Amino acid sequence: MKHIFNKGKDASKPTFLLLHGTGGTELDLLPVAGQIDDEANVLSVKGNVSENGMPRFFKRLAEGVFDEEDLIERTKELHEFLDEAAEKYEFDRHNMIAIGYSNGANIAASLLFHYQDSLKDAILHHPMVPRRGIELPNLSSKDIFITAGTNDPICAPSETEELQSLFESANADVTVHWENSGHQLTYSEVDAAKKWLASK
Ligand code: MLT
Repeated sequence: MKHIFNKGKDASKPTFLLLHGTGGTELDLLPVAGQIDDEANVLSVKGNVSENGMPRFFKRLAEGVFDEEDLIERTKELHEFLDEAAEKYEFDRHNMIAIGYSNGANIAASLLFHYQDSLKDAILHHPMVPRRGIELPNLSSKDIFITAGTNDPICAPSETEELQSLFESANADVTVHWENSGHQLTYSEVDAAKKWLASK
């Protein structure tokens, strides 16, 4: 997968896995990672799917309606890519924190839904429920920070609450931060993520 790896200054810090939104690239979230912790390793990945030229991490059938078969396949592809990248760049595979926005947050959520050990923790900006009706792995050691907009037209507040309760049913520790905004990624929600991570 097309990606950027930037080695951090402090080897004890986690590796951030950056996953952009629809139409984005591996460059988009680099400033976000810098804002959250500028000493961590960064692995930023570009989605392999193109929707009319817009990069994504998996196909969708319509706005908010996911191609489930493709989602499962692409989640596996990303999971395996992370294993390879950890070997190649020699970072701790078990100390990886996803930072995803929108479509990128959705595939990060899908990693958590399908693989117990793919992510240590996750910061999900405006995620949706990636799949319904499946049993999640036990996520008891995971901390998940979700940010959401009270007026998000793509991800309704009820969907955020549903995702929170699915993660909590799998024993994850979930914090939800609400912004009085829509689907856009705001400086203040990234700042909230920074404070959450620093307080862990
Ligand atoms: C998705 O397709 O993953 C969601 O609708 C969010 C987005 O627009 O990327």
